[in-house]
Amino acid sequence: MTARLLPGGPVADAVLADVETRVAAFTAAHGRRPGLGTILVGDDSASAGYIRMKMAKAEELGFASPHLHLPQDATQEDVLGAVRSFNSDDAVDAVLIQHPTPPQIDFDAALLALDPDKDVDGLHPVNMGRLALGMPGPVPCTPAGIEALLAHHDVPVSGRNVVILGRGTTLGRPLALLLSQKRPTANAAVTVVHTGVPDWPEYTRRADVVIAAVGVPGILRPEHLSPGVTVVGGGVRYEGKRLLPDVDESCAEVAGAITPRIGGVGPTTIALLFRNAVELAEARAA
Ligand SMILES: NC(=O)c1ccc[n+]([C@@H]2O[C@H](COP(=O)([O-])OP(=O)(O)OC[C@H]3O[C@@H](n4cnc5c(N)ncnc54)[C@H](OP(=O)(O)O)[C@@H]3O)[C@@H](O)[C@H]2O)c1
Repeated sequence: MTARLLPGGPVADAVLADVETRVAAFTAAHGRRPGLGTILVGDDSASAGYIRMKMAKAEELGFASPHLHLPQDATQEDVLGAVRSFNSDDAVDAVLIQHPTPPQIDFDAALLALDPDKDVDGLHPVNMGRLALGMPGPVPCTPAGIEALLAHHDVPVSGRNVVILGRGTTLGRPLALLLSQKRPTANAAVTVVHTGVPDWPEYTRRADVVIAAVGVPGILRPEHLSPGVTVVGGGVRYEGKRLLPDVDESCAEVAGAITPRIGGVGPTTIALLFRNAVELAEARAA
């Protein structure tokens, strides 16, 4: 079997086209652009590159993109000060704190200091609570991107057996909350497996959809799958500039549908960041 590919690019394009329209409507209605603030701490070149890319995309979509860059030796108080200044700035609707931060910085404390109604990544505990309770709020971008990707490619999830490998806080755990919600593009029977379930292949072999959210290259192999299953690769590890996915490429010989190794979940994550940003702006203005 050769699997149907599920690229993220067309999903991202559709989401970003909608974002651009909403940003223009917001700007026309409120006489100012919605603001996506970014905070970068330190000199990590990969992080600086990600921020540059996100700021350029923000400007292209019509956002204002104020940026605070703190030095490598910034203190916790410096970072909290930057977060508070964006919290109190009415022109800033959404804030991204780039991860990772230097070792002297407690990232979680910085996240806790952020106004949850400006939390573009949806990772603040208040927003995780809203997700668990099914209340409106920003949803973590990668899980939201995976739901959008499956919906866009008409992979049914409702009523199906979805197994998520990994229970991490940025991906597996919020994705399980999201896909078990009572909505047409969710509504799944979700099982989460992890290191505490050594016989996890017993679960993935019975799944209709398997989502890898681990960060261990090649952990998911064809013998863990049943023929025709849909496979989504969310977990990756970087070695230098090389991107090593959780999903071994030979899985494509067994799966019915699969995300490509490059250009799968990644583009949807970025697109959902901007959708969160415009939705936060709309919610603040309402
Ligand atoms: N594509 C994107 O845009 C994007 C965005 C965000 C994250 N990611 C990637 O998604 C992955 C997960 O992110 P995260 O922050 O949620 O990670 P995390 O907090 O490190 O969680 C990893 C999870 O994988 C499980 N795990 C590790 N080794 C395992 C093994 N041998 N067998 C079974 N389970 C195993 C862990 O189990 P325990 O809980 O038992 O330790 C844990 O639940 C990472 O690779 C990250 O880079 C990708």
